[in-house]
Amino acid sequence: LPPDLFGGVRKNSRGLDLASEQVLAGLAATLQQGQPVAAVPVLADGPRNGEVLPITNPADRRDLVGTVVEASPDLVDAACLQAKPWQEPPAVRAETLRRAADLMETRLEPLLGPIVREAGKTFGNAVGEVREAVDFLRYYAGCVKGFSNDTHKPLGVVACISPWNFPLSIFTGQIAGALAAGNAVIAKPAEETPLIASLAVALLHEAGVPRAALQLLTGDGKVGGRLVANPAIAGVVFTGSTEVARSINRALSRRLNADGRPPVLIAETGGQNAMVADSSALPEQLVLDAVTSAFDSAGQRCSALRVLCLQDDIADRVVPMLKGAMGELGLGNPDRLSVDVGPVISAGAQAGLNAHIERMRAAGHDVHQMALPEPTQQGTFVPPTLIEIDAVSDLPGEVFGPVLHVLRYRREDMEAVVRAVNATGFGLTFGVHSRIDETIERATAASAAGNQYVNRNMIGAVVGVQPFGGHGLSGTGPKAGGPLYVHRLLAQRPLVTSP
Ligand code: NAD
Ligand code: ALA
Repeated sequence: LPPDLFGGVRKNSRGLDLASEQVLAGLAATLQQGQPVAAVPVLADGPRNGEVLPITNPADRRDLVGTVVEASPDLVDAACLQAKPWQEPPAVRAETLRRAADLMETRLEPLLGPIVREAGKTFGNAVGEVREAVDFLRYYAGCVKGFSNDTHKPLGVVACISPWNFPLSIFTGQIAGALAAGNAVIAKPAEETPLIASLAVALLHEAGVPRAALQLLTGDGKVGGRLVANPAIAGVVFTGSTEVARSINRALSRRLNADGRPPVLIAETGGQNAMVADSSALPEQLVLDAVTSAFDSAGQRCSALRVLCLQDDIADRVVPMLKGAMGELGLGNPDRLSVDVGPVISAGAQAGLNAHIERMRAAGHDVHQMALPEPTQQGTFVPPTLIEIDAVSDLPGEVFGPVLHVLRYRREDMEAVVRAVNATGFGLTFGVHSRIDETIERATAASAAGNQYVNRNMIGAVVGVQPFGGHGLSGTGPKAGGPLYVHRLLAQRPLVTSP
C-alpha cells in the first residue's frame, strides 16, 4: 500500500475511553436525545415529503426512533435526472471528504444513540461503526492523491445500495469511494436503517459535498430495483445478500454504458465462514476468538464465524468451554454497556433463525442455547446458540445471526473439510487456530476465502490495513478499504469511439 493513504500519517480514527465518567455520562445522554429523527428523500433540489412510516428500536419496539418517507418511483427517476458528477479537482474532493471525517469524528458520541437504537447495535459496535466510517472517508480521500480530472474521469452516476448491519460504516464507505472518484452518488440505504443514513448525508453536505453529487433515496428494495434499472446509472456499489446482488447483475447486464462497457458492479455479499482448529490450538484463545467471531453483533456480520471445525481429539474439551463462554455473554437491550449481544434486526430475521434452529433440533442435532434473560419480549432476540453438525452440507446456506455450528473432523480430513466449505461457492472469511506452521499453511492454502485470519478472531477488518472482500458467491470487484476500490469507479478507456 502507498504509505500516505491516510494523508501523510498512518492512523485509524480515535475510539472512546469507556473508563471515563464524562464519556459514560455522554453515552447515557446520546440515548436520551428524545426527538425522533426524520429521514426523507433528499434530491439535489431539496428534501421531499410524503407518507411517513415509523422506525422503531429492534430491542424494544415501543421505542420510536424516528420516521421515514419512502421515495416514490417518480422520485427515483427525478434523482437520476438531477445527478451531476463532482467536477471539482480531486484535491478539493479529498479535502472535503477529510472535512467530513473530522466532523464525524467530532460527533462520535451523538451518533451512537441513533446507531444503538435504530440498528440494535451494542455501544462497542456503534463506536466501531463511526470509526470505520471516518477511516473510509480519510482512506479514499488519500487514494486520489496524484489524480487529475484530465486523466481520471468518473464513471458518471453511481448507485450506492447498502445493508442494515453496518448502517453507517458501509453506507459511508460506499459513498466515499464513489465520491472520491468524482462520481455523482445516489445512495439507497437499507429500509431498516434510513435514520443513520440520513444523518450521514446531512453531515457530508455540511462538509461541502455538492447536493447534485450526493442524493439520498430512502425506501425498500423496490426503490433499489428501480434505481438500478435507470439507464443513467453507470455503476452500482452494492453490499447485501447474494440473491439481490444476482438480480442487480442481471439488470445491469442488459445494457451498456456510453463507453461500450456494461455498467460497473462492485458487490459485497454473504459468506459461509469457517474456522479450523487442530489439536495444537490454545483452547482459551480459540474459545475467546470463536465466541467473538460468532456472536459479536449478534452474528449479523457478513464476516461472522458460522462453522467451527474442531479436530476430534480436542472437541470434547473445547465444546464445554465454548458453552461456558457463551453463558458469560450479556444478552439484552444494548442501552447498557454490559450487553454483548443485542437483538436481531427484525421479526422476520428472528423467525427465520428460530425455524433453522428447530429444523436442526428435529433432525437430531445437538442444540445448546443460552437462556433469554428478563424482559426481552418487546424486541426481536435470538439467544446465542451452538449446534453440532456432521457435515457442512447439513447447512441450508448462510445462517445470518447468533448461531455457531460445530463440526468435528479427523486430522487427515482437514483439507477435505476446507474444500467442503469452498464447495458452498462462498469465499469471504476463514480462520485457523494452530501452533503448527504446517497446519496453518495447509489450511490457508486450501481455503478460497478472501480474508484469512490466523490465531485470532475473524471479524472487524481494518480500513487501509486489511482490505475486505471475497469472491464467488461472496462478491465481485475490489476489496473495500483497499487501494483498488476507487480505481474501479473511474471510467475506463472507451471500447466504442464516435465516428
Ligand atoms: P439485502 O440484500 O436484503 O438488502 C441490501 C440492500 O439491497 C437494501 O438496501 C435493500 O433495500 C436493497 N435491495 C433489496 N432488493 C433489491 C433489488 N431488487 N434491487 C436493488 N436493491 C435491492 O441484504 P440485507 O439483509 O440488508 O443484509 C444482509 C446481507 O448482507 C447478508 O447476506 C450479509 O452477509 C451481507 N453483507 C455482506 C457484507 C460484505 O462486505 N461482504 C457486509 C455486510 C453485509
Ligand atoms: N468489515 C466487516 C468485518 O470485517 C464486515 O467484520
